[in-house]
Amino acid sequence: MDRIRIRGGNALNGTIPISGAKNAALPLMIASLLTDDTLTLENVPHLADVEQLIRILGNHGVDYAVSGKRLVQDPSQGRTIHFTARTIVDTTAPYELVSKMRASFWVIGPLLARMHKARVSLPGGCAIGTRPVDLFIDGLRALGADIDIDQGYVVAEAKGGLVGARYRFPKVSVGATHVLMMAASLAKGETVIENAAREPEVADLATCLNAMGARISGAGTSTITIEGVPALSGARHRVLPDRIETGTYAIAAAMAGGDVTLAGTRASLLDSALDALRQAGAEITELNDGIRVRRNGAGISPVDVTTDPFPGFPTDLQAQFMALMTRSGGVSNITETIFENRFMHVQELARLGAKISLSGQVARVEGVPRLAGAPVMATDLRASVSLVIAGLVAEGETTVNRVYHLDRGFERLEEKLVACGADVERISG
Ligand code: UD1
Repeated sequence: MDRIRIRGGNALNGTIPISGAKNAALPLMIASLLTDDTLTLENVPHLADVEQLIRILGNHGVDYAVSGKRLVQDPSQGRTIHFTARTIVDTTAPYELVSKMRASFWVIGPLLARMHKARVSLPGGCAIGTRPVDLFIDGLRALGADIDIDQGYVVAEAKGGLVGARYRFPKVSVGATHVLMMAASLAKGETVIENAAREPEVADLATCLNAMGARISGAGTSTITIEGVPALSGARHRVLPDRIETGTYAIAAAMAGGDVTLAGTRASLLDSALDALRQAGAEITELNDGIRVRRNGAGISPVDVTTDPFPGFPTDLQAQFMALMTRSGGVSNITETIFENRFMHVQELARLGAKISLSGQVARVEGVPRLAGAPVMATDLRASVSLVIAGLVAEGETTVNRVYHLDRGFERLEEKLVACGADVERISG
């Protein structure tokens, strides 16, 4: 298994190109199931999760072709991939595939809408909590689906098709909002989703669905209205920039010090995280096509953050921000409200010398003047990258094991950091 070795102490200076968003690419790819025409996605990141979803969609009958495979001159540009679900050959998503990636459960929406039936394995638990699917089931039932749980599978049917309805989510869920929006696009009549997730990836999916002929308004706010249409067509859509990758490198620059330009991204995708970074002492400037992050000389100030659905501070940046706070000049409280078990990085950060105590959903981080390198490992994607961030300033050598977690969500991480002067190396095997 690959590892990443970091020798701490170098400032970051240079430009980091930001890739297309993993969390937008996945639902957009799944939307290809809604039409027999070709959906072309540009700026698709090279990630293990994308490859895995290509395999899962292939199982349902989605063909894919990558444009200009041999002409990739600038790997930061992402790929253009054409997805065509001419015929759906299988409406079952088996356990072996769904258990590898939770987002693949989302095929339930398009399969039900287009084929009027779907049999999708329950995703099971994962390292950051139980992550149930009750909201998906309730939402689809509101659109007229009959749903049973049978031998670990969600078996859904809508004889005669889904029918639009008004549905209020009792809790904000990104995935359930994606699924209900896709399903309602092909339902008869109007659907109104209340308490919808407002994440930019939801708005990006709606933009793509509208380009395919859907009639969706309000995506990006908490009320989404969808006027169902009988069929959708193909379209061409560019995946929006990855706000979590953007925030991760912004935090890395604040941690290591230096002057980094994050290219091809937008500050408006992560205002709350950038605000927290400013309070921590980073200088942040919005550019035409990116963000510049600087921290020269000044220490890191302690900042309290609480994760919340968008536009709040993202749970997917909580671990990275905690890494930054381990070096602040005081005490910071970090509260996790989205997932109940998302503090797995705490004990690994402690191995590097961090002082963190946990009390329920709150981590109290007492800044220390130095971290010291050590071997560490992580149990999920965002936790792994928080250890890389800590390694950038830890004295000596930090080795992050189980790098496959990083490869699920960060494209060419070590290359991007090395280009800015970090001493980071991937060790294979
Ligand atoms: C998405 C993101 C993930 C991010 C998360 C929260 C993708 C591929 N993943 O995950 O990176 O961390 O949003 O911003 O986009 N819940 C229920 N019942 C349900 C569904 C969810 O109780 O049926 C709960 C979850 O356990 C969690 C909360 O709702 O506590 C939010 O989860 P949700 O927004 O659904 O996360 P995902 O869409 O899985």
